[in-house]
Amino acid sequence: MGVLKRYGEYLPVTEKTPAVNLEEGSTPLVNLERIGSDLGVDLWGKLEGCNPSGSFKDRGMVLAVAKALEDGARAIVCASTGNTSASAAAYAAHVGVPCYVLLPSGKVAMGKLAQALIYGAHVIAVDGNFDRALEMAREAATERGFAIVNSVNPYRLIAQRTGAWEICEFLGDSPNLHVIPVGNAGNISAYWAGYKEFRGMWKIKGLPKMMGFQAAGAAPLVTGEPCPNPETVATAIRIGNPVSAELARSAVAESGGEFNSVTDEEIMEAQKILAAKGGIFAEPASCATLAGVFKLKREGRLPEGSSVVMILTGNGLKDPDAALSQVGEPTRIGGTMEELMEVLRP
Ligand code: F0G
Repeated sequence: MGVLKRYGEYLPVTEKTPAVNLEEGSTPLVNLERIGSDLGVDLWGKLEGCNPSGSFKDRGMVLAVAKALEDGARAIVCASTGNTSASAAAYAAHVGVPCYVLLPSGKVAMGKLAQALIYGAHVIAVDGNFDRALEMAREAATERGFAIVNSVNPYRLIAQRTGAWEICEFLGDSPNLHVIPVGNAGNISAYWAGYKEFRGMWKIKGLPKMMGFQAAGAAPLVTGEPCPNPETVATAIRIGNPVSAELARSAVAESGGEFNSVTDEEIMEAQKILAAKGGIFAEPASCATLAGVFKLKREGRLPEGSSVVMILTGNGLKDPDAALSQVGEPTRIGGTMEELMEVLRP
């Protein structure tokens, strides 16, 4: 029913806030039995790729855009590795407000670029990485009086907490481990706030350990210092200087969790396994979660029988190039039944 409708009474929504709604949120939480039983855990995937623009960004964007409208903003602006821009462009189109998006040139997955363009945003390709594009977007917002809808906008993280509430409502408690990809570090912070708040309001017993996974080539929260030239196949989390680093550090510390990194090879292997043994096609950044769970298992640090929720942040269809680069070709045949029978072997 849309995040503002379902959770409006727990969000900063007033009678003046426009009821923006693309039916975001309420995403499936799927039990991944085949993979979980191999690992000896109760493994769940939260399918954030089922949101209207195909990523978790829609949860927070709906409130950020509603508030921008309420405040009379002339336009919205953001920098993005792809998903924030797709989401911002979708909501801007839905409500009819101009949208400017700054993207790191040549480093955004094809599907996300197509989304921003088809939704009618002004798309600006910046010769620089995401971190630089974000600095520029922030300055431009101040200069022009536009609403910035990156996660520096507080409404984004406030509404992203709804993901944690949905998980707790569905499971009846929090999971033991919450496993999440980390880029600009907003989502892990929002989930932690969401779990704590849910415990206060609805009296669940536990809180999860927050396990944040970064790509090895863009892992400032693992190394402890900014990464000037982030590089990874998981372009969504190709970020060297996360804006919400401090919030994310406290989430991990308070929960007794950790930051860790996974290589591009591990991410792509996990993408294949999630698809072929789970039936879920998630984009590479999202698969840093499963790669991380495998790493914990290898290191003997995945407690037997624990419940593990992975936030599968974005839809695999956004980045078909990444998937195609690691699978074989289709089996080709002419149009005869003999040839078909030849290849239909069990
Ligand atoms: N997964 C996906 C698919 C993402 O698009 C992002 C961030 C993350 C994980 C990391 O989330 O930044 O809250 O730690 N994408 C942003 C964007 C940066 O511009 O779309 P985070």
